[in-house]
Order: sequence, then structure tokens, then C-alpha cells
Amino acid sequence: MNSPPLPQPIGAPLTRAALFLVATIHPGDGPRSKVRSLCGDLASLIRAVGFRAAEPELSCVMGVGSDAWDRLFGRPRPKQLHPFREIRAPGRHAVATPGDLLFHIRAQHFDLCFELASQIAERLAGAIAVVDEVHGFRYFDARDLLGFVDGTENPTGEVAKAATLVGDEDATFAGGGYVVVQKYLHDLAGWNALSTEDQERIIGRAKLSDVETEDSRKAPYAHNVLTSIEVDGEEVKILRDNMPFGRAGGESGTYFIGYSRSPGTIEQMLENMFVGKPPGNYDRLLDFSRAVTGNLFFAPSATFLEGVTADEARAETPTG
Ligand code: HEM
Repeated sequence: MNSPPLPQPIGAPLTRAALFLVATIHPGDGPRSKVRSLCGDLASLIRAVGFRAAEPELSCVMGVGSDAWDRLFGRPRPKQLHPFREIRAPGRHAVATPGDLLFHIRAQHFDLCFELASQIAERLAGAIAVVDEVHGFRYFDARDLLGFVDGTENPTGEVAKAATLVGDEDATFAGGGYVVVQKYLHDLAGWNALSTEDQERIIGRAKLSDVETEDSRKAPYAHNVLTSIEVDGEEVKILRDNMPFGRAGGESGTYFIGYSRSPGTIEQMLENMFVGKPPGNYDRLLDFSRAVTGNLFFAPSATFLEGVTADEARAETPTG
């Protein structure tokens, strides 16, 4: 019996540094074959860069967008992979922006992130255009730039695995997971002009202590009300590894990254945030934070990536 596919390190612990690289692949066979060849070599590249560090702390998750999947691997394809669905609501817009590949690189020290990203960029020179590169940093005790601790309610261990990894529902792609990214820019002056009480009503937690507001006292538009999804009375979790980023006195914000076993969960959260639940009861965070990118990717298992060779079409290889 084959052993189960090894996932990419989706559930890697929160780190002090992260680098998010989103790229498009140039047309033609050459670029396609360069990217395929990197897929097969990614694990060894990560080992080469990471082994130089004192502790095994470097991780990288590679995601592939819907159109790129067809170009790179053909069929079969992950059942729920599709382009990011933009959402328009009065005064709010979850934009969909170009992106064929995602590299989510995490480490405790930024030098490792930078070195791996540079090696990837070198390997793919001439084959890709980087459309967004964000350098994320940990801000004090895991706070976003709005001042609130971000990541508290993340699932861990087996619960995180069950929340993020595809299983029998799409057995060919078991061990993979869906990932949504959005770059949000903050109006920090506007946010900081609010009272702490108003900010806490928007987030649904206490700012200093991070304690969750009692359900009966939460505003209907609180972020943690609108992003709580229940199916058949059970809460459906996602795994987030958001990072603050920015330039002093310039653009700054939160890089949202959410992993999920099904893209539908994150799409429902976005619908609730942008349109509102019920419509109009939207997430007030969005009065101070604007999404300027939006992508959906599938992060196949590490086993899948290792099996990819430069030219052979995956559709021709037996699966299962
Ligand atoms: C500007 C962008 C965002 C900021 C600053 C932000 C910030 C926060 C903060 C401070 C919390 C509370 C602490 C925690 O549990 O992590 C939180 C919770 C959460 N956020 Fe966000 N978030 C953003 C965007 C999003 C988006 C786009 C989604 C999903 C599509 C999302 C989903 C969630 C979920 C599921 C929780 C946990 C809710 C719970 O179970 O209590 N967030 N976020």
C-alpha cells in the first residue's frame, strides 16, 4: 500500500518573519518547463538554504492558481480550484488580481526568507514576473498594525490538519490545501482616531488583554462574528498566518493568508465581511482597510511536487 502523501508545511508555527511572493508565469513551453522543474527541486532547495541555520526553522509552501494548474499539470485538477472570486459591495471591493504562483516563506530570521526567495527567483528567471512581494514582520506580541493580537483563534495540531488538508473528498489531491491571500492597506490615522472601545467592538476582543468579548455583548458586525462559519452546528475553522508589513510613514497593512480544506469556507467569510450578514451588516474593519490584491491557489502535497519533472505531462502519469 502507498503511504499517504506528505503535505507541504501548511501548519508551520507562527514565525517572526515571512516573505510572500506572487508571480505570473510567462507564456510558452520554456517557462512551463522551468516552473515544473522547480516543483521537483523545491524541497532540496529549501533544505540547502535552511540547513545553514542553527535550527530547522525555514519553511515554504508553494501554491498554484487555477489557470496555471491547467498549463503546468493538466488533468486531473483539484476539484474546487477556480480563480479568486471578486466581491463588490457598496464602498467595498474584494479585488481579484493576477497570480499563477504563490511562495509563502516563513522563518524566525528574515535572512533565510530572503535567501530562499532569491534562489527561487534565480531558478525562475525569465520564466516568471513577480507581481507582488511582501516582507512581513512580527509586530510585538503577534499584533497587527491596528494594535490587536492576530492569530489567537487559529486551530492547532490535528484540528489544524483537518481544517486545512484535503482528504477523501478529493483523494487524488489528498494532503493538499487551498490558500487565499489578500494584501490589505490600512488607514491607520482613521483607525487610531477611533476610541479603543469602538475598535474593540469592531474586532470583538479586548485590545490589551486579547480576551474575547462575551458573545452576548459582541456587536453584530464584529470581525469574529462575521468570520465564524458553522455547518450543521459545527464551527468550520481555517488557518491564518497574517503578517504586518509596511514602510515607515508610507503604505502599511496586513497580509492576509488563509489555508482551508475547501475554498468555500474562506469565500463565505469574505462574503460576510464585504457584503455583510445580513447584507449591510458588513465588517467595519473594511472602513479602515482596503484589499488591493486577491488570489486563490492550491498548495498540492509535497509528494505531488516531488514527482513533477521538467517536461513530462502529469496527465500521462498514472495516479493513485
Ligand atoms: C485587514 C485584514 C484583517 C485583519 C487586520 C484581521 C485581524 C484579525 C484579528 C485581530 C483577529 C482576532 C484574533 C484572532 O483570533 O486571530 C482575527 C480573527 C479572525 N479573522 Fe481576521 N483579520 C483580517 C482579515 C481577515 C479575513 C480576510 C478573513 C477571512 C476571509 C479573516 C478571518 C478571521 C477568522 C476566521 C478569525 C477567528 C475568528 C474566531 O474564531 O474568533 N480575517 N482577525
